[in-house]
Amino acid sequence: MQVSPLRPGSAALESLPAGGLDTVFVAAPPGSIERRAVLAHALRALRPGGTLVALAPKDKGGQRLRGELEAFGCTVAERSKARQRICEVRRPDAPTGLEAAIADGAPTFVEEIGLHSQPGVFSWNRIDPGSALLLRYLPAFAGRGADLGAGLGILARAVLAAPAVEELSLVEIDRRAVEASRKNVGDPRARFHWADVRSVPLADLDFVVSNPPFHAEGIEDRALGQAFVASAARMLRRSGTFVLVANRHMPYEDGLRVAFRSMTVLADEAGYKIIEARK
Ligand SMILES: C[S@@+](CC[C@H](N)C(=O)[O-])C[C@H]1O[C@@H](n2cnc3c(N)ncnc32)[C@H](O)[C@@H]1O
Repeated sequence: MQVSPLRPGSAALESLPAGGLDTVFVAAPPGSIERRAVLAHALRALRPGGTLVALAPKDKGGQRLRGELEAFGCTVAERSKARQRICEVRRPDAPTGLEAAIADGAPTFVEEIGLHSQPGVFSWNRIDPGSALLLRYLPAFAGRGADLGAGLGILARAVLAAPAVEELSLVEIDRRAVEASRKNVGDPRARFHWADVRSVPLADLDFVVSNPPFHAEGIEDRALGQAFVASAARMLRRSGTFVLVANRHMPYEDGLRVAFRSMTVLADEAGYKIIEARK
């Protein structure tokens, strides 16, 4: 048996050939629109009678899996293990509602925020409050810089409003966000990197801006945010500036003190800190 792991953020589910697979396992994502789209993609990719096993933590969509699969016309065998709900179905000959669920989860323009986006991307249909605060305190940068974990490009658009910015690298690991940001950030000074911040080869930058992630796979991961701090330090030239927003409880200060010459808290509001550090 050939096994191919696919993540919506790294591979295009729509590239799976329809009706070609015998078995699909889905670790279902927590967002309901994305989850129904992923389940629909999985059913579309299965041959009739093929097996779908979908699981999710009880409190992160697991309780809804059964109903969602039944809405596609599936008969569901459900069990629980290690706080996961596990649903197993055989693909019916004519599942219902797949196209609609896939369309709901597809890339779209979100009027409310004026951005191209897609369900499943970080804060896909609203501006994150941490990013909103950072936008208020963003200095007018100059020279070459990077936006680490650039998402839809919200911060990048504001950074590029400064005419003295020569080049801005948007680094982002989620393919869907990179594709959306290409549409959101039309500025010719923008460079798009579908890459992991921890290994992208950027150097000698004048500035770095970031709203670092602190979740991986839905679980708090402080090391990931700390790795963003270390990566920013690696990418900056001497005296380069790093401006970031952090949830107040995130322990970034120690890493910043080690890697940077000075550190100033520009704002401390509503549970977030805006920190400026100089290398
Ligand atoms: C808190 S969000 C900020 C997004 C955007 N800058 C904003 O302000 O809305 C963090 C982003 O980092 C991305 N990310 C997580 N781990 C990453 C990694 N190792 N390398 C690059 N990007 C990563 C996530 O996909 C997410 O888009």
